[in-house]
Amino acid sequence: MIDADLVLTHAGELVTMAGSPCPRRGPAARELSIIPDGALASLEGRVVWTGPTDRLSHAVRPLTGCTEYDADGRVITPGFVDSHTHPLYAGGRQKEFAMRAAGADYEEIRRAGGGILNSADRTRSATDAEILGNLARHLGTMLFLGTTTVEAKSGYGLNPETELRCLEILARFREGWPQTVEATFLGAHDIPREYEGRADEYLDLLIAGSLPEIRERKLARWVDIFCEKGVFTADQARRYLSAAADMGFGTRIHADEFHDTGGAAVAMEVGAASADHLLSVSRENIRRLAASGTVATLLPGTAFFLGKPYPPARELLDSGAVVAIATDFNPGSCFCESMPFMVNLAVCQCGFTIEEALTASTVNGAAALGLAARKGTLQDGADTDLVVWDLDDYRGIAYHIAVPDIEEVMTSGRPVSETVSDACRNLVTLQGRGIQEC
Ligand code: NIG
Ligand code: FE
Repeated sequence: MIDADLVLTHAGELVTMAGSPCPRRGPAARELSIIPDGALASLEGRVVWTGPTDRLSHAVRPLTGCTEYDADGRVITPGFVDSHTHPLYAGGRQKEFAMRAAGADYEEIRRAGGGILNSADRTRSATDAEILGNLARHLGTMLFLGTTTVEAKSGYGLNPETELRCLEILARFREGWPQTVEATFLGAHDIPREYEGRADEYLDLLIAGSLPEIRERKLARWVDIFCEKGVFTADQARRYLSAAADMGFGTRIHADEFHDTGGAAVAMEVGAASADHLLSVSRENIRRLAASGTVATLLPGTAFFLGKPYPPARELLDSGAVVAIATDFNPGSCFCESMPFMVNLAVCQCGFTIEEALTASTVNGAAALGLAARKGTLQDGADTDLVVWDLDDYRGIAYHIAVPDIEEVMTSGRPVSETVSDACRNLVTLQGRGIQEC
C-alpha cells in the first residue's frame, strides 16, 4: 500500500499528461492521458498514485490527518507552466498603449525613446516596494489563474545595479511564496541610452560585471537576450549567450520577433533551452528547430496585444518542433497574466488543437525551463501542482474565452487559498524588515 497525506477523488476527467517521454512533439503532443472518474494520491507535495477512484482504496493508505478532496465530477489538470514573463518593473505604459490605439507602431514608439527604455527609467528610480508590489500583484494573479510554475525575467534595470536589485527582490519574494519561480537575467533586454552605439561595450560590462556575481549568488539560473533589428545582433547574441553558457547558465533568447535576424539559429548553436516569439522565423529555421532540442516558445498574447500576425504555430507543430506557449507578461507588449487566455488564443487564432495547446502550456513549458521531470504533468513523482476546473469536459478550458472556470489551484498539494495568505504574511514581514526602503 502507498501512504498518502492528500487524496483527490471523483475527478470527472483526471488529465495526467502521463505517457511519452517529455518534451512532446508531433502526435505525442496530442496525448493527454485522461482517467475518467479519476483519483490522485499525494505525499509531501508529490504525486504518488493516480488511477480510477474505485481502485484508490486497494492501492493507497491515507495517513492520519490525510486531507480528502472530492472533486465531484470536475476536471483536474496539471497547473500551467508560464515559461516567459517580465514582472520586475515599475510604472505602467498606458500612455504608449493609447498612442498605439491611435495608430502609432510599437517599434516606432521604441525608436522615439519609449518602450523598454521608458520602463527602465521608471524602474531605476522606483523604490523596492514599488517593484515588489507589482511582482506580488502579477504573480498572485497568475497563480489564481492556474499558473503554478512561472519564469520571471529582469530586464527593466538595464544597468548592473538595478538589474541586480530586481533579481534580489525576486529572490526574497520567492522565499515562502507557493508558486515555483525560475529567475532569468535579461540585462540584455535593450541597449541603455548611456551605451547608445556601444552595444558590445554594454555586453562586455554584463559579461564581466554582472554574470559572475549573479552566478556566485545564485540569483538566476537563466540568461536571455533580445536579438532584434536595432537591438542586439545575432553575432552579439551568440557571443553573449556563449559566455553565459560557459559560466554554467542555461540560455534562452528573444528570437525573430519582428524581423528574421537569425535569433532561432543562434538558439540552436548555443544549445539554448528555448527560442521565444518567432513571429518572423524562417522556413529553414522551423525545419532546424524541429530537429533540435530547443523548445519553440510562442507568445500569442503579444501578437494579440500588438495587433501583429500570429506565429507560424501549425508549421512548427507539423514539422515536429517542441512547442510551448507562454504569456510574455510585460508592461509594453502584453499586459496579460492569463495562461487560460493564451490557450484560447492558441486554439482560436494559431491553429493548435485543444490537446496541443494544453501540452504546450504545461509539460512543454516545463521542458523549456528544464523542469519536465517535476512540473507540467501529474505522473508519479511530479509535484502536486494542479488546477481543479469547474468543468466536466477539459475542452471547456479552451472553449470559454477569457473567463477561466477555475474552482481551486494547488501547489505542492496545498490549496493556494490557504498558502497565499501565509505568503502574504511573509510579504508583510519582508516589507517590515525592509528590502531597503520598504
Ligand atoms: O518580450 N521583446 C522584447 N521584450 C518584451 C517587450 C518588452 C516591453 O515592451 O516592455 C517582449 O515582448
Ligand atoms: Fe519577452
